[in-house]
Amino acid sequence: MARPKLWKLNPMDFTKMTPARNEKIAAAPANKLPEADSYHPNKIANALHPKVQYLKVAKIVDEDDFTKSFYLEADAEKGTESLAWFNAGQYISIRLKIGDMSLSRPYSLASSPREALEKGYYMLTIRRVDDGLASRYIQDNWQVGTKVTASEPLGVFTYEPLRDAKNIVCVSGGGGVTPFRSIAKAIADGDEDANMILLYGSDSIKEALFNDEFEELARTCPNFKYVNVISGEPVEGKEHGFITADLIRKYAPEGDYSIFICGPAAMYNFVDKEIATLGLRKKFIRHEMFGEYFNPAKEADYPAEVAPEFKLTVRMAGKEYTLTAPANQSLLRTMENGGVAAPAHCRSGECGWCHSRLVSGEVYTPKSADGRREADLIYGYIHPCCAFPLSDVVIDVPPVVE
Ligand code: FES
Repeated sequence: MARPKLWKLNPMDFTKMTPARNEKIAAAPANKLPEADSYHPNKIANALHPKVQYLKVAKIVDEDDFTKSFYLEADAEKGTESLAWFNAGQYISIRLKIGDMSLSRPYSLASSPREALEKGYYMLTIRRVDDGLASRYIQDNWQVGTKVTASEPLGVFTYEPLRDAKNIVCVSGGGGVTPFRSIAKAIADGDEDANMILLYGSDSIKEALFNDEFEELARTCPNFKYVNVISGEPVEGKEHGFITADLIRKYAPEGDYSIFICGPAAMYNFVDKEIATLGLRKKFIRHEMFGEYFNPAKEADYPAEVAPEFKLTVRMAGKEYTLTAPANQSLLRTMENGGVAAPAHCRSGECGWCHSRLVSGEVYTPKSADGRREADLIYGYIHPCCAFPLSDVVIDVPPVVE
């Protein structure tokens, strides 16, 4: 069929399209259309990016006196047939109901993508933190068979060959090593094409999580090198002290390399200054999320003389909640403590999942945790996970998908 010449088209003809379409719709039989989820592209989209994953605990392993690994499998009874695929280095966000509180916590997937595909589990390795409400609750309450509601896999702490150098130096401490187990195993499985050097800082060998596994991987996988850095009693054959720029230079390969960093806040404070002296390009320095923000008053631009607490009004799905909001607590924490299930994944200002509209009032967002886009600032949107009240506040919050 000959194509019409574009310059012969009359733009006014397009105005007839909507009435013509409406006539066809009116003349169509009144059969019910198939559910949107039954279309093949939607099935694929839902499998890759489910709004929610229903899981259950299949196995629990004690890693050390403070740390347990929880193996989670799909809970078909609740509607999750299989685990969503992920990239090594991503996390899932878990929803928890603790007493009257309704909260979420992000945990890195310590298992590899292949373990999810072939063995049917995600592994979360959770270290008990003394003042960690969620880690204590999970360790004390999750049993084999416990049902868990989780998000799809999220986060960008992943190896990306278009951006990252092929050689990656991974700097870790304490429980921050979990995403590196996933990345190391994905390299050994042949699913990631990178060369990895893991510098793992711990007080002693005993406190180095997955130590035997990393040593075994280093023996069997030519693309993975493992270096213990012990800060306590020196151990023969191991590095002693902290992870400094000199130590990174000692193990980094010739030429370009990317640095991936994940560990406790104290480690970031030290290691970031060391890494700054290496002269690497900015895109080659990759951080896992910095974690939840707790102390706004320490920021230089935090206003003086802020009242200790305010009134927070939350509008969500046609309901309204009124809560007392301490000035030093994020609006997300205030909602969770008040039993309002608010959407959140990363809790660090990065993912945008808690994105809410500030209807009235004033909040403080620390610059280091402000991941909002220009449009959010113009149209009055905030991230409650890192917004602190400076006055009485009213916010519109989307409901959680459960
Ligand atoms: S939970 Fe990710 S930005 Fe707030």
